[in-house]
Amino acid sequence: MALRQKKPLDLTPYKVPEHIAIIMDGNGRWARRRGLPRVAGHRAGAENLRRIINACVEFGVKILTIYAFSTENWGRPESEVRGLMKIFARVLDQELDDLHAQGVCLHHLGDLTGVEPGLQEKVRNALEVTKNNDRLILNVAFNYGGRAEILHAMRQMLADNVSPDDLTEELVSRYLFTRGLPDPDLVIRTSGELRISNFLIWQAAYSEYYATPAYWPDFGREELYEAIVAFNQRDRRFGLVNQE
Ligand code: IPE
Ligand code: IPE
Ligand code: MG
Repeated sequence: MALRQKKPLDLTPYKVPEHIAIIMDGNGRWARRRGLPRVAGHRAGAENLRRIINACVEFGVKILTIYAFSTENWGRPESEVRGLMKIFARVLDQELDDLHAQGVCLHHLGDLTGVEPGLQEKVRNALEVTKNNDRLILNVAFNYGGRAEILHAMRQMLADNVSPDDLTEELVSRYLFTRGLPDPDLVIRTSGELRISNFLIWQAAYSEYYATPAYWPDFGREELYEAIVAFNQRDRRFGLVNQE
């Protein structure tokens, strides 16, 4: 069987965002549309992640942040949560070698406490194995919430006796899970929803926002390219006025 040819996509006229963050949404609806259980949608979503990582490497994106599981998602039916945890564990088992060979450096955003010990171990191992890679930084927001992240930062700052006089935006950024990384230039949300759902609420203060009706398993390389083209049409003013 002939491999499907990759469509040539020319990015030379465009600026590629250094940091793209994605709210990978719509797995459940993708499955329902096919008469499948929700976890089949999550499996398709995990496969799609592989395609998007490859596309980011191809396009020269330096940092990709993905929202994989929110602090609120624990409230879903137990069978769905269990299914998701199994998928995360399997992805780490099956993809780690390839990700490492591809030069992907994994970071975790969120809190591992409360996560099943076996999965915690797989995450820690993946971070350790890939820590010196520098082709693409892949931040996985897992058991992540933006408010929880800010609370965590506040607690650490209090524990470190940070004085009110020393408190700056820059310092707060250094206490977040994304410490040392630039803010996302572009936040993409799939599945047509127009909300941030507790994702990077500090870091995305001035990010461009792109929403697409495509469900996450259907958001592929060409859709990512379209998002980058749309990003190039934005006028990022950061509160200033442009010189005419
Ligand atoms: C996103 O897809 C994946 C996770 C939140 C883990 P959803 O599961 O939210 O899919 P919809 O929004 O119900 O279609
Ligand atoms: C956001 O999607 C979380 C992830 C993509 C992991 P949700 O589907 O959980 O968000 P809401 O419920 O639509 O706000
Ligand atoms: Mg959803």
